[in-house]
Amino acid sequence: MALIKILRKHSIKLSFAILLVGGTAYIFGTDPKYTGYSPDQPIPFSHKIHAGELQMDCQFCHVAVERSVNATVPDTATCMKCHEFIASDSLAIQYLRQSYSQGIPVRWIKVHDLPDHARFSHKPHVARGLDCTQCHGDVKNMDRVEVFSAFNMGWCVNCHRDYTARLALQETGPGHNHTIHLSDCGTCHY
Ligand code: HEC
Ligand code: HEC
Ligand code: HEC
Ligand code: HEC
Ligand code: HEC
Repeated sequence: MALIKILRKHSIKLSFAILLVGGTAYIFGTDPKYTGYSPDQPIPFSHKIHAGELQMDCQFCHVAVERSVNATVPDTATCMKCHEFIASDSLAIQYLRQSYSQGIPVRWIKVHDLPDHARFSHKPHVARGLDCTQCHGDVKNMDRVEVFSAFNMGWCVNCHRDYTARLALQETGPGHNHTIHLSDCGTCHY
């Protein structure tokens, strides 16, 4: 009887509390909805050949990673620096040549794609010395790139918390506060 009374009187507040707790658990939840995702591409491009065996630097192709929001995927001209001559018999390379001569970019399928309301830029991360492998795994040994980390909010926030503590201790010490907002909602959401 008492329980029903409480429920009647406070049902709105209660369901709000339940929603809040559930919502928070959902948002911070570890559901790794992207991990392992590896879409088919128009032509098979292998990082294992290019970044692994040929030891090409990531930034040879992903030129903007240090200075801009996007790492960017290379245009066909970058590929043609070599493929004008290399493996030119291959069907995949003929496809590239066609893309180049007709000026139509290859429509690579995005592997990573955060929702628009979340703000991410490579720049501050690379500037802090984080390595590509920390977030993307050992790409140079992948024939097909696949999503390596959870890429959900909990993953971002956990590392930010960790760094807030670490940076405060490491480089600045008492008197500095420039990393305290690293886990604020507004840091990552518009
Ligand atoms: C020869 C050029 C080249 C080099 C070198 C290269 N990449 Fe790529 N990368 C590409 C191309 C082309 C794509 C798009 C096709 C694909 O996803 O496989 C791509 C895609 C990616 C993606 C997925 C992009 C998305 O859609 O989310 C990541 C992550 C990536 N590369 C990381 C790296 C890392 C890390 C290195 C160095 C170890 C590297 N790449 C070296 C050409 C290159
Ligand atoms: C702190 C984690 C982190 C590090 C370190 C990192 N990336 Fe990324 N990368 C991401 C996230 C998150 C995305 C998805 C961005 C989006 O969808 O807006 C991404 C996307 C990409 C893409 C797809 C194109 C784009 O810009 O959206 C490429 C290519 C890429 N990264 C390459 C690299 C390379 C090369 C390095 C090393 C120089 C690197 N990343 C280091 C987290 C990271
Ligand atoms: C620095 C030179 C270089 C660059 C730049 C380069 N490649 Fe390659 N690529 C190679 C070499 C070397 C091979 C191995 C050829 C072989 O095994 O016969 C190769 C192999 C390939 C293959 C397999 C060909 C086959 O069927 O055997 C594809 C597809 C390919 N590259 C696509 C690309 C794309 C797409 C880009 C641009 C994003 C690119 N490459 C940029 C040197 C390069
Ligand atoms: C592996 C650790 C790590 C991961 C994972 C990570 N970050 Fe960061 N992030 C950092 C560090 C370190 C900085 C730089 C802090 C500084 O220099 O003050 C940073 C800085 C940023 C900044 C700039 C903050 C500012 O105002 O200066 C944004 C925005 C950001 N991260 C968003 C994200 C998002 C969104 C994700 C998840 C998709 C993410 N980060 C994942 C470690 C990480
Ligand atoms: C370090 C970066 C970061 C911080 C700080 C952060 N978020 Fe997020 N948030 C993200 C990313 C990235 C996603 C998208 C995750 C995904 O696609 O799985 C997200 C997703 C969400 C969503 C889910 C929207 C949807 O599409 O399902 C909500 C709601 C949200 N965040 C609210 C918040 C609130 C409230 C705070 C402050 C307590 C906060 N976020 C702090 C990075 C961050």
